[in-house]
Amino acid sequence: MLELGRGGALGARELGEIEVLARAVDVQARGADRAEEVPVVGSEGREAQADEDSQAPARGGRGNLQRPRAHPRQAELAVAAADRLQGCRRCGGEDQRRSKRKKNDAAQASQGSRETVNSPAVADFAGKRGLVLGVANKRSIAWAIAKRLADGGAQLAFTYQGERIEAGVRELCGTVDSPLVTVCDVRSDDDIERVVAEAGEIFGGELDLLVHSVAFAAAEDLEGRFTDTPRDRFWMALDVSAYSLVAAARAAEPLMEAAGGGSILTMTYLGGVRAVPHYNVMGVAKAALEASVRYLAADLGPDGVRVNAISAGPVRTLAAAGIAGFKGMYRGFAEVAPLRANISPEDVGKTALYLASDLSSAVTGETLYVDGGFNIVGVPTGD
Ligand SMILES: NC(=O)c1ccc[n+]([C@@H]2O[C@H](COP(=O)([O-])OP(=O)(O)OC[C@H]3O[C@@H](n4cnc5c(N)ncnc54)[C@H](O)[C@@H]3O)[C@@H](O)[C@H]2O)c1
Repeated sequence: MLELGRGGALGARELGEIEVLARAVDVQARGADRAEEVPVVGSEGREAQADEDSQAPARGGRGNLQRPRAHPRQAELAVAAADRLQGCRRCGGEDQRRSKRKKNDAAQASQGSRETVNSPAVADFAGKRGLVLGVANKRSIAWAIAKRLADGGAQLAFTYQGERIEAGVRELCGTVDSPLVTVCDVRSDDDIERVVAEAGEIFGGELDLLVHSVAFAAAEDLEGRFTDTPRDRFWMALDVSAYSLVAAARAAEPLMEAAGGGSILTMTYLGGVRAVPHYNVMGVAKAALEASVRYLAADLGPDGVRVNAISAGPVRTLAAAGIAGFKGMYRGFAEVAPLRANISPEDVGKTALYLASDLSSAVTGETLYVDGGFNIVGVPTGD
């Protein structure tokens, strides 16, 4: 509802709203007679939805719908404010941009979209049970995701790769009251099956979430030429970084089915779709991982299990430290990414919350970029 500012001064918000209303009145006044003769082309669905939402009666055919009328009080306010608005046209570009944003907001509001949203804005994971593979230390992306899920109320079991990192991982997991922290080498099917069975026992035979944040390639294959990758290390990179998702999803499937559905998340990188210097065999492994996400999503979808990947921009972690030239790439990233900033593990954690929750209930088989828009840029500006 529009309110004029006290003392006669108009705020930027009010100006935006007045401008929208003034336009609406103007359009209605000029277009009332033409509404019947000019069909709306190409947006039948949206128009129909808008009219349905406002419960305005539709006239004529599918493409010839009458727009809802502005409330008489709104029209009155808009006309009364028109002169003052005219005076404010000299406001700078920032005001115009703000005004544009407000117009978009007002347009959305007039379609009733705000009123029809009934999902909680914040994901609630109370009662959800998850298994997290890939925490090495507090910098791990898996940890950023786990913290977010735990903050939301999820109960989480964790695996760690080996003795070398066990104490640190146990300490971290203690801070989120994890009921299970156990070793797992993802190259072993036995290990994966045992871990998932242990999680199943603790969680009453059910599992809602699986976070797979694991990758490995030999340091010598993350520099130099991809062409020189030997056969055995090629397969090792693919085994740890891609096949492990397939094995973990297969083991988790019955528990997720018992839970009535679930969400599986994995971590990927742009090197899976573009040739990134030094990423080499890991890029090939990420390509296999992303394809596996799609095939797993197709297989597990009928059970209500969704499978998605997050493609993150560079984050300073243990795994990243093994990639030759990572520091330079990290620095250059913020200069090219449209958002002009590096991403944080927390940025990934927030998107993981979305993908793990009901907020993404119809999203599966996707790779979602969390990279400040880096992947959309064709040619850096050089600014
Ligand atoms: N850091 C980045 O810039 C970045 C960007 C995009 C995607 N990713 C991906 O995010 C995921 C997590 O990496 P991170 O950056 O958090 O680094 P990290 O080193 O913290 O995590 C990698 C994890 O993989 C585990 N791992 C490796 N081999 C294993 C094995 N055989 N068995 C069990 N676990 C094993 C390690 O123990 C570690 O916990 C990886 O898939 C990585 O490719 C990272």
